[in-house]
Amino acid sequence: MKILGIETSCDETAASVVEDGRILLSNVVASQADIHAGFGGVVPEIASRQHLLTMLPVVERALADAKLELGELDGVAVTHGPGLAGALLVGVNSAKGLAIAKGLLLVGINHLEGHVYAAWLEGREPEAKPGFPLICLIASGGHTDLILMEGHGRFRLVGRTRDDAAGEAFDKAARILELGFPGGPAIQKAARERHGKETKFTRPYVKDSFDFSFSGLKSAMVRRAEEKGIYPRKDGAPLDPQTVANLAAEFQAAIVDAMVDKTLEAVAEYGVNGVVLGGGVAANALLRQEMSRRSPVDVVVPSPKLCTDNGAMIAAAAYFHLRDGARYEWGLDVVPSLGLG
Ligand code: KG4
Ligand code: ZN
Repeated sequence: MKILGIETSCDETAASVVEDGRILLSNVVASQADIHAGFGGVVPEIASRQHLLTMLPVVERALADAKLELGELDGVAVTHGPGLAGALLVGVNSAKGLAIAKGLLLVGINHLEGHVYAAWLEGREPEAKPGFPLICLIASGGHTDLILMEGHGRFRLVGRTRDDAAGEAFDKAARILELGFPGGPAIQKAARERHGKETKFTRPYVKDSFDFSFSGLKSAMVRRAEEKGIYPRKDGAPLDPQTVANLAAEFQAAIVDAMVDKTLEAVAEYGVNGVVLGGGVAANALLRQEMSRRSPVDVVVPSPKLCTDNGAMIAAAAYFHLRDGARYEWGLDVVPSLGLG
């Protein structure tokens, strides 16, 4: 079964063709990061306009790379939430147009479920080990969710952030340290240059719950940067790269610790067989390394380019919907605040 997956929930226009939910035939991602960088974050109106301009060239390229015509596909899958309403609308309406034109099946996919199914790309068999149940940590710019996955399509939300998402915290910290946008990769890069001592940030910890909280960490970063005299920035004065690197490294370590601790508590509580990481923050090298090092059960992590937003994960999730008999109506609409489980 060959499915075209379309993803436009935030600032990436992405399309991909995937066979049987796990064989990547093409994967095209047009990032708008440079356009939004000057604003320090994604501007929703600019994002939807840019999706309109990029959508069809991206789909054409995905089909060409897969050496397929639209009519040879079995279905078109598209993210219908959660995400920016205007951005989602471009994807959903494009998918409808393509599906109607060739009489293909249309499938609406939850973006978070897509991030989970990125773990099945790269050839993983549907019932591959470690097997269900699994704990999925989906950490992105808009979400930090712990999801119990009891089978294909069977999700239960067991924990979530009470304030900022992990990616959002990285993005805010990077802004304070003037490292640019998106902040996660920038913090990771700066942290490699750390040298000497820097006081640890207190680990954010929500008691008696699998929830996260990252907004206090951002405030702690502001206070620490103020103490060091690098925030608010004095005109013309360059930031000391060593101070920036040390703060970036400690900030990254605190976020990673918090995520690994809670995930492993959930692993123990639910007696699962494995951990799945997904979402843009799962591209973080320290998170990948620490989760694998500390987890008593297998950890499945997609390659970094499949952790950040892409169309392949949407097509992968859609395969399991169609395989299990789901069919969609043409009335499919965007649901900006859609949850999972
Ligand atoms: O999943 P994603 O591509 O888009 C959303 O659904 O939000 O995630 C984007 C987020 C951004 O906040 C970005 O800073 C973060 O993922 N991110 C990272 C890394 N790469 C992307 N965070 C930490 N380390 C990284 N290497
Ligand atoms: Zn995402």
